[in-house]
Amino acid sequence: MEDAVKKISTGASGLDTLLGGGIEPRMITQFFGEAGSGKSTLCMTAAVSVLRKGLGVVYIDSEGFSIERFSQIAGASTEECAKHLYVFEPATFAEQGLMISESEQLIKSGTAGLIVLDSATALYRVEQMDTKDALSMLSRQMMVLLGIAKRYDIPVLITNQVFMDIDHHRLSGLGGTALSHISKAIIRVEKHEGFRRAVVSKHRSRPEGMSWEFVLTGTGVRDR
Ligand SMILES: Nc1ncnc2c1ncn2[C@@H]1O[C@H](COP(=O)(O)OP(=O)(O)OP(=O)(O)O)[C@@H](O)[C@H]1O
Ligand SMILES: [Mg+2]
Repeated sequence: MEDAVKKISTGASGLDTLLGGGIEPRMITQFFGEAGSGKSTLCMTAAVSVLRKGLGVVYIDSEGFSIERFSQIAGASTEECAKHLYVFEPATFAEQGLMISESEQLIKSGTAGLIVLDSATALYRVEQMDTKDALSMLSRQMMVLLGIAKRYDIPVLITNQVFMDIDHHRLSGLGGTALSHISKAIIRVEKHEGFRRAVVSKHRSRPEGMSWEFVLTGTGVRDR
């Protein structure tokens, strides 16, 4: 039976397989993992894959968008891809919320194929706000994102940072249950010596623990 939902390719077939065909529209997909694990590279690869189809991408980058890495990944199509790439660079967590809301105008007036928020929690982590306030702000931002995804039938890709969860002796994603509940597909990205591993942490139709091993390269990613 043909899949009823039109999924969006991440540009890496191994990752698409892990996600059951790609990133699903109308919901939030989350990549979480330690620094340098490859989260941003995977987001850019997905963005380039969407841009190459002639669709627009809203890219909210709280860590400063790397034009250099983008052109490495987009290669010869960099100029073409950049035409429909809308980069937002929030400097504060509140600004991140504003930019998420503002992006709707852009999406409404064009043909967007993807929204990326890389990272959802970097500014959340930096700002020394009362934790409860920060968490509810984060939840509100995610609700707005999800609303846009549903209204315009597009996927949302977010990244999340990790902390050492002492109770469970493992690295866990920031943002608590609010962020893990609202993300319907969650991929953990692990950093290993010389390679990376993406593991299904939560998915509605894929087995937990399923993984794909890959290598970060000068042009993005490749299978290990
Ligand atoms: N041109 C390149 N060739 C090979 N590897 C590269 C290249 N550029 C970056 N990398 C690798 O990618 C890693 C960074 O990946 P990326 O920025 O996607 O990680 P991240 O998970 O987003 O990290 P952070 O949490 O710090 O944002 C670097 O540590 C390096 O190993
Ligand atoms: Mg990053």
